[in-house]
Amino acid sequence: MSGKGMNLTLKIWRQKDAQSKGKMQTYKVNDISEHMSFLEMMDVLNEQLIAEGDEPVAFDHDCREGICGMCSLYINGEAHGPDRGVTTCQLHMRMFNDGDTIYIEPFRAAAFPVIKDLVVDRSAFERIQQAGGYISVNTSGNTQDANAIPISKHAADEAMDAATCIGCGACVATCKNSSAMLFVGAKVSQYALLPQGQIEAADRVKNMVAQMDLEGFGNCTNTGACEIECPKGISLDNIARMNRELIKASVK
Ligand code: SF4
Ligand code: FES
Repeated sequence: MSGKGMNLTLKIWRQKDAQSKGKMQTYKVNDISEHMSFLEMMDVLNEQLIAEGDEPVAFDHDCREGICGMCSLYINGEAHGPDRGVTTCQLHMRMFNDGDTIYIEPFRAAAFPVIKDLVVDRSAFERIQQAGGYISVNTSGNTQDANAIPISKHAADEAMDAATCIGCGACVATCKNSSAMLFVGAKVSQYALLPQGQIEAADRVKNMVAQMDLEGFGNCTNTGACEIECPKGISLDNIARMNRELIKASVK
């Protein structure tokens, strides 16, 4: 069936498993609606591949509404593709034109090894968050009502902004050094700004940064590409805050 949709050439990274060498392969999809999301376009390709008896392309996804951080494609050389402030699942095909060739690769970083095709292992992020540990909550019976703890509007807003990080890894994939500083900066900041986060603050930042280094992420050289490609607009200020928290923790 031919319609008014776009006909596209897709160059996609295929890799059987973590051990195999991968390569780009070319596919064609036709009659793609501009209203489709990028992942819906990938679904069309996969249905086509299955119908032809080929193996579908593996890619990560879950919520498909920009909140889980699972989708992770590097599209035409940009994490989450050409649009700003959106994840791959929120990227619309209207960002592309009929006849385009689209390059689709996994997020690349030594600390994010490819598992299969476009799926990478981002468990390093989970280990960093685990290293951050817990926050102490007084449950002894004289628990303070959270609403009775004064927090300035500014601190609350900044903490909330930091907490919008969905752990997608676009910052790492974008950074020429594969640095995870924007992610870790956000995770440190969301607690550092709130009174509830103070008790373990020093250990938290030290342990998270140590785990980040252990996982093999690179250093931050203040290029700022991560901030531009981050689908949640996480600010570089969070990296500065993390560095300040680390200095504070090391002189304690
Ligand atoms: S800082 Fe932004 S790009 Fe990095 S993991 Fe969080 S949401 Fe994704
Ligand atoms: S699938 Fe959940 S953020 Fe894209």
